Amino acid sequence: MRSLSLRPFLAALLALLACAPAFAQSAAPLAQTPPMGWNSWNRYGCRIDESLIRGVADAMVANGMRDAGYAYVNIDDCWQGERDKDGFIQADPARFPSGIKALADYVHTRGLKLGIYSDAGVKTCGGRAGSQGHEFQDAAQYARWGVDYLKYDWCNTGTGAAQRNPREAYATMRAALDQAGRPIVFSICEWGDSKPWEWAAGIGNLWRTTGDIANCWSCKLGHGSWNSLGVMEILDKQEGLRRYAGPGHWNDPDMLEVGNLADLNENRSHFAMWAMLAAPLIVGADIAGLKPEITRILTNPRLVAIDQDALGIQGFAWQRGSELEIWARPLSGHRWAIAALNRSSVAQNHMLDWSKEPLGDDLNQTFAKIGEHHFNLIDAWTGKRIGDTQGPLPLHVAPRDAQVFILEPKA
Ligand code: GLA
Repeated sequence: MRSLSLRPFLAALLALLACAPAFAQSAAPLAQTPPMGWNSWNRYGCRIDESLIRGVADAMVANGMRDAGYAYVNIDDCWQGERDKDGFIQADPARFPSGIKALADYVHTRGLKLGIYSDAGVKTCGGRAGSQGHEFQDAAQYARWGVDYLKYDWCNTGTGAAQRNPREAYATMRAALDQAGRPIVFSICEWGDSKPWEWAAGIGNLWRTTGDIANCWSCKLGHGSWNSLGVMEILDKQEGLRRYAGPGHWNDPDMLEVGNLADLNENRSHFAMWAMLAAPLIVGADIAGLKPEITRILTNPRLVAIDQDALGIQGFAWQRGSELEIWARPLSGHRWAIAALNRSSVAQNHMLDWSKEPLGDDLNQTFAKIGEHHFNLIDAWTGKRIGDTQGPLPLHVAPRDAQVFILEPKA
């Protein structure tokens, strides 16, 4: 009798244990460091199909990007076809004839993850079906397909008083992703309009802080009702936002133009500054066609490690001259990253006197106390030890270049 009455209890216990790994997985915190990967938009716009995406995954394995930490292969706008008779979104059958599930499987077998794109409005920015009114259905579909990352845009969400409330709209998709039960990084893309840094930390893993990046060092390109911005303009718009970023919830100054920018120094600086900002590193270039010197920038282990530092503290402009800016970022292990950014088209020389301006981060109450403590200086681009903080550091920064140093406490 006794053993019989225990049976349902044991069965329930076994069922619970069998589910435990799934629960543990969906509860695992995502994006504890800024997400790294690739996205189709900057380079290809709507000119995408499944063979491009497969080729990118292959190239990221072959050129070392995957092993350097780039995990996500993200399809941006224009992958969508029609909804089926039950309202489920389907991939465009001409561009993605094998479907998204097959693509996710392909990407997963290469040790990478698949990202997808939708929009909180009735249509995406590219005029495809948006998720408004279909949030739970779409999230469930993405989970079934094995999608790992969702970029969620803000076009066609209404105007004036009829516009959707962004917080509500993004919270609805958050709830839908939670219900779908698969760990999916949630990338909020409403361009910083409603200051998502003030409300989105519990909703998304990253939020765009600006409109779209343009493939230029410094420019403002008009597109009718909106402008895209150059790398320097986007950098300047990050002012005041560092307090909002941290593990699991990052400021997103938009995807990288590294590999698209014309000048090698510009590519280096853009990458260095995004690393100083603890920005998501989502490459927007032709991966199979990357020049080796660009691959070397993207996979530089010390620059990637700055971006991915476990403390997740976003850097700040420590000293600003008219053309030369010196940025600082506290790192784990009482280390610091320092970047000297030359915004101008003329080489800049400067003597960095460590004793002149105290190196400290008031927000995080972290102070280097140079003088009391001494640091070895490592050139982050080369990995070479170039001296220490006991004397001033002469800086010679080429036009639009950025030198980057790591300060390591002396034993
Ligand atoms: C918006 C986003 C871009 C890109 C396009 C796609 O402009 O900000 O990053 O996703 O839509 O249409």
